[in-house]
Amino acid sequence: MLEKFERYPLTFGPTHIEKLQRLTDHLGGKVEIYAKRDDCNSGLAYGGNKLRKLEYIIPDAIASGADTLVSIGGVQSNHTRMIAAVAAKIGFKCRLVQEAWVPHEDAVYDRVGNIMLSRIMGADVQMVDDGFDIGIRKSWEDAIADVKTKGGKPYAIPAGASVHPHGGLGYVGFAEEVRKQEEELGFKFDYIVVCTVTGSTHAGMTVGFAKDGRADKVIGIDASFTPEQTRAQVLEIAKRTADLVELGREITADDVVLIEDYAYPVYGVPSEETKEAIRLVARLEGMITDPVYEGKSMQGMIDLVKKGFFPEGSKVLYAHLGGAPALNGYGYAFRNG
Ligand SMILES: Cc1ncc(COP(=O)(O)O)c(C=O)c1O
Repeated sequence: MLEKFERYPLTFGPTHIEKLQRLTDHLGGKVEIYAKRDDCNSGLAYGGNKLRKLEYIIPDAIASGADTLVSIGGVQSNHTRMIAAVAAKIGFKCRLVQEAWVPHEDAVYDRVGNIMLSRIMGADVQMVDDGFDIGIRKSWEDAIADVKTKGGKPYAIPAGASVHPHGGLGYVGFAEEVRKQEEELGFKFDYIVVCTVTGSTHAGMTVGFAKDGRADKVIGIDASFTPEQTRAQVLEIAKRTADLVELGREITADDVVLIEDYAYPVYGVPSEETKEAIRLVARLEGMITDPVYEGKSMQGMIDLVKKGFFPEGSKVLYAHLGGAPALNGYGYAFRNG
């Protein structure tokens, strides 16, 4: 589906799929749980889902003649860490706007984890007081203008690389990769579970899996706590991406499944149940999930298994999208393990 698009390789190649046998057993064994490890997809600054997206965006950044990547996220944004890493790798400068998206309790929240890594990688990091919003932000537009004023040539990448015209392509590629891996495994996954916030990971998968009739088997777990905006953004990106890849059919609202029940109390703050899910999968599988994204989708998947959402015998693929460096900003929440 992606043959006509240029790709700048930033990842190791197809990511590993492993069975989470002890989690499967713990949850009664009637639903088989697997994980696709996009969290281990690259040697670039701990990797994660943004690299798949950026592989289809960076060719345009280079072709544009720009010299500075400009992007935006929360203080502990994984996305901005990935932009800093990619800028370093391709020899660009990097300007990052880090907004106050999360009410936090750790004194070192703005010094450790993702933001520390971005600083180490040489990004020009600007802290801004504005709160959470997945839309286009004035602070980002101001940063782009400021780079120009100072004689730089900015290439603008929106939050999560999502509403960029090519933002959805990387996760179309994920679906194609899963199809190939299914041939080797000798079975197909019945459901794919994905954490959804800015939307292009979910949207790309929706389009990619629409090709073999599984669009609505992609189960998005909202972690934004603004699910209406997230759902609308997933649908918009999926429609646009379907056109780009010439899917041959329209994506409609029925194709987008977003479950809203696990994002509480708010974006970036883990509930007791999210923390329990993080501990559970860490203790059963040695697999690390984070309090902002993957812990919430893990909590959601576990709860859906317990509720019988997935019919007996289903094979569920959990897309692990990365995010572990943010855990460093949550030392207080996990002070006792
Ligand atoms: C680790 C992790 N998981 C999930 C997501 C959600 O992906 P998206 O923003 O494409 O919805 C993000 C980024 O926002 C992330 O960093």
